[in-house]
Amino acid sequence: MAANHSSTLTTVVSYPERGEGGSNKYRGNCSPKLISDLIAHFNLKEICDYMCGSNTTGDAAASMGITSHTYDLHSGFDLLHCDIPERPQFIFWHPPYWDIIKYSDVMYRADDVQQRYGYDPRQFDLSRIPTWEEFVKAMNYCVMKQFCALEKGGRMAVLVGDIKKKGRLLSMLFAMTKPGTIENVIIKTQHNCVSDHRTYSGSFIPIVHEYLLLLRKDSPLQYPLLMTYQMHGDIRNMPGATWRDILADAMESFQNAVCLEQIYDQVGSYQRAQHQQYWRDKVRQTLYCYPAIFTSPRRGMWMLKKYA
Ligand SMILES: C[S@@+](CC[C@H](N)C(=O)[O-])C[C@H]1O[C@@H](n2cnc3c(N)ncnc32)[C@H](O)[C@@H]1O
Repeated sequence: MAANHSSTLTTVVSYPERGEGGSNKYRGNCSPKLISDLIAHFNLKEICDYMCGSNTTGDAAASMGITSHTYDLHSGFDLLHCDIPERPQFIFWHPPYWDIIKYSDVMYRADDVQQRYGYDPRQFDLSRIPTWEEFVKAMNYCVMKQFCALEKGGRMAVLVGDIKKKGRLLSMLFAMTKPGTIENVIIKTQHNCVSDHRTYSGSFIPIVHEYLLLLRKDSPLQYPLLMTYQMHGDIRNMPGATWRDILADAMESFQNAVCLEQIYDQVGSYQRAQHQQYWRDKVRQTLYCYPAIFTSPRRGMWMLKKYA
């Protein structure tokens, strides 16, 4: 019997009461209320989930009286290597948040999967990928694989989180390739996490939200792709930085006063200097123009004022 459920979707969602469906014992599970809201909001007849975990999606779909197709590594389906059987209208995807929670051989026994399905799930498990960079590659392969399978007009709702390691934010949302039309980013507040009971020291700001990204496939064959790639930049070669910024950055490495030649060495071979014929004059002029930042303790010698 289908439940009568009207959507309460807004750009911030919160489900303090998890609701019935799936299992709250399955770590990293999500609330079936989120799935029910998606089903109601988009008036879905069918929903697919290729990393279904405790089958929250399947249970929410059943309670709403619609069809679901749900799979997981624990039950014979590896999204990295298996063909997607459907041409979905709507995919809910909730991948592991890298290695924050390990799934194979923690939430289910690798031996059982090996016996039943003939493979060791640990080798394909996204939560067991050793580096962030490899995880991002696998995540983006999975995004594209699922998006390509969608029918025209189909949607993907991707639930992802941020990870903080050694003072660095590893954001799945930022790193993820976004194919098609980006329809919405919904903030979902987190409740009942194991980390709720931890106390943190220092400058760490606890993460208490996730993101639900809504992607739509408006056209087949060709669609926009928003991709992130990381590069290392040197401000001496970049637009946007002023001579003041470049000199101040270049002089951060000198704790004592240095002669002009040493400063020229730091900037002379870079684009900013190459594009300016009288760049040495510019360097000297800049040092004189910002007495709050640069100081000259002796003739021809310069240092950052904060080190004087
Ligand atoms: C965050 S959990 C999903 C939780 C689910 N939404 C729930 O409420 O229970 C991520 C799931 O991805 C599965 N998984 C990891 N790598 C996979 C792969 N290569 N193919 C299919 N499933 C995979 C894990 O087994 C795990 O169940």
